[in-house]
Amino acid sequence: MHTAHNQAIGEATGKIILMGEHAVVYGEPSLAIPFPKATIQTTVTQSTGPVTVDCIYHKGLLSTAPEHLANLVTVVDVSLKALKQELKNFSLHIISSIPAERGMGSSAAVAVATVRALYNYFDEPLSHDQLLELVNVSEVIAHGNTSGLDAAMTSGETPLYYIKGQPFVPFSLSIDAYLVVGDTGVKGQTREAVGSIAALMKSNPKETSQDIHRLGELADKAKIAIEHNQPVELGKLMHQAHLILTKLGVSNEQLNHLVEAALNAGALGAKLTGGGRGGCMIALAENEAAAREIAHALSDTGTSNTWVYHLGGGSIE
Ligand code: MEV
Repeated sequence: MHTAHNQAIGEATGKIILMGEHAVVYGEPSLAIPFPKATIQTTVTQSTGPVTVDCIYHKGLLSTAPEHLANLVTVVDVSLKALKQELKNFSLHIISSIPAERGMGSSAAVAVATVRALYNYFDEPLSHDQLLELVNVSEVIAHGNTSGLDAAMTSGETPLYYIKGQPFVPFSLSIDAYLVVGDTGVKGQTREAVGSIAALMKSNPKETSQDIHRLGELADKAKIAIEHNQPVELGKLMHQAHLILTKLGVSNEQLNHLVEAALNAGALGAKLTGGGRGGCMIALAENEAAAREIAHALSDTGTSNTWVYHLGGGSIE
């Protein structure tokens, strides 16, 4: 076996979907931003014998990893096939500060970091397109159906406007406002939520497609509001999106509770973010003081964690 290194690292970041989650699976536009505060690092180290993995969910043979790590097992498998290498003689160590299954793209990020680490380890060049292709295979395993948004966002560094099947369009966050992210502390259920919309699409196609299309329109309007520095308008659009996502069955009581608490604390708008049914919500604040107040109200209501993101400045605390 030829390896150029006996150890190599790959990294990825979390993401936050501002608008368009779920609708993006059906070809509607979406807006997402990287969340650099949360990162994942995979280290590949030379060893002998079967591949082992060390992460918070599993310490042992990769072949005996639990079912919910199927995306990792798959991405290792497809990467090695692409690299024409065998599944042996290395170990994987994964460290993550992205809360798992909270709509921040942790499953895609694990895959991005792992593909990068493997390509570094075997000293093979990796194009961005190749990376996305390999990661999306594992995302389909994790989420059932996938738009490709998580893979793109966790492997890049700029906010993206994205329509499935079309090139990613970077956009600048030229809006003078703050985003507060609240984590319910409860795992989201992206796969179930994606599946429940698919079921609604079958049982009530007309109304469901209208709702999905409306989410896409709201994402387009949100992009314009961001470009024209209109936080009040953006807040309204976010709230409308949350109501539609709730109608589509991808919110839950905790998320609705937090959205309400944020609005009561003065948020310009609030919504769930990502897969839903748990995970995270986001709220828009006109300035830092308002953002702190909202973050406070969210912690009082029961978030496990909150972050404040200066949209115009691109920094997170
Ligand atoms: C999950 O972070 C985002 C969804 O839109 C699914 C996807 O885009 O693949 C719910």
